[in-house]
Amino acid sequence: MKDRPIGVFDSGVGGLTCAKELLKLAPDENIIYLGDTARMPYGVNTKETLTRYANEDVSFLQRRDVKLIVAACGTISSNVPAAAIKDLKVPFVDVIGPTVAAAVKASKNKRIGIIGTPATIKSGSFANRLKALDKDIQTVSNGCPQLVTLVQEGYIDEGNFITNSVCREYLAPIKAFGVDTLILGCTHFPIISAIIQNIMGDDVTLIDAGYEAALEAKRVLDRLNLNRDKPRDTVQYYVTSRPESFDEVANIFLGAGSDARAVLADIKD
Ligand code: DGL
Repeated sequence: MKDRPIGVFDSGVGGLTCAKELLKLAPDENIIYLGDTARMPYGVNTKETLTRYANEDVSFLQRRDVKLIVAACGTISSNVPAAAIKDLKVPFVDVIGPTVAAAVKASKNKRIGIIGTPATIKSGSFANRLKALDKDIQTVSNGCPQLVTLVQEGYIDEGNFITNSVCREYLAPIKAFGVDTLILGCTHFPIISAIIQNIMGDDVTLIDAGYEAALEAKRVLDRLNLNRDKPRDTVQYYVTSRPESFDEVANIFLGAGSDARAVLADIKD
């Protein structure tokens, strides 16, 4: 069991914000990453559709004999609980619990912003869990679908005019609410965290859902004694369409020399 890889999935490059941290936090682990780029964006879909996608993504990873699955996707985490995954045979980590815990810890003024996809914001996942932890917390949220496309297409430079303009528009009501903490509830967003931080100002703490999920995955490995005890020998990236566009953003984001190459996969394989 210990030798088996960890499976990480998202609709595209967003889950890399989690995989990147997991590669560092668990340096011996093999990872299989799935970006369901053919059906991206996830965040404009209904719960029913998202449940079907999540089940197919999990099956794909389970057929590759993973020992743990990380839903590195705010949209899936918000709309598809582990109980809605059929034949789930391994531990399942999502982004909500660890992200919310980190946000509560970071906030002093108890005003917390949440940005994510429309399906994430509509679900109320982060806001409800925050209030369950502390009823005095006030939240403000905004669904930001355009940011997913901009990130996925590589509009990620700190000075990028279009991405800066779109972010300013989406963040205006959140800034006006006076938050001291902002949850990046979509795993695509940490890829443009420099832009978001510049707009929000240095006094606002950004909470990265992908990073928090990676920390949680490592805690689960420790708790269940599932840590691999040999050096890593493989990291595999699969996408369901356009591997070349994934490679481009992945390599900018993971850093020069990462040489991530995605293999085109059929989700039913
Ligand atoms: N990165 C995903 C999320 O965290 C999905 C974005 C999308 O495909 O809409 O929600």
